[in-house]
Amino acid sequence: MSTKPSYLILGGLGFIGRNLFLHLLQNANKIRIVDKQLPLTVYLTKQHMNALQNIQTVQADLNRQEGIIKAFEGIEQNKEEKWIVINCAAETKYGLSPEVQQMCITLQDLI
Ligand SMILES: NC(=O)c1ccc[n+]([C@@H]2O[C@H](COP(=O)([O-])OP(=O)(O)OC[C@H]3O[C@@H](n4cnc5c(N)ncnc54)[C@H](O)[C@@H]3O)[C@@H](O)[C@H]2O)c1
Repeated sequence: MSTKPSYLILGGLGFIGRNLFLHLLQNANKIRIVDKQLPLTVYLTKQHMNALQNIQTVQADLNRQEGIIKAFEGIEQNKEEKWIVINCAAETKYGLSPEVQQMCITLQDLI
């Protein structure tokens, strides 16, 4: 059993998320990041790309229920493994209309 916690970072490819996974890497049992983007499309540095070799990346849209299920798939809280979930997923683009902004931050399956 590892004494280190495991981390699930939602929005893990964004500005905060990518620096967080670098920071946590040495003190984590496992790290899984979930993002709607793919690592190759978000201009990561070599340091971030190297770190991702030890990190599970899952592409999922957290606006959708199926995306949330995918994000948490296989994660179990038990005596052997403690997971800490950190939510860095957000729509931070400027200039979106209120309707589009709302679409980006609402669970679509519930509309
Ligand atoms: N950057 C800062 O200096 C700063 C400071 C204080 C607070 N914050 C807060 O921290 C959070 C993250 O900020 P950031 O700068 O990292 O933003 P960012 O835009 O760089 O990252 C957000 C990430 O979330 C992902 N994402 C958005 N919607 C998603 C969805 N539906 N499913 C899956 N992934 C999704 C994006 O693809 C992106 O990678 C925001 O809430 C922001 O307000 C940021």
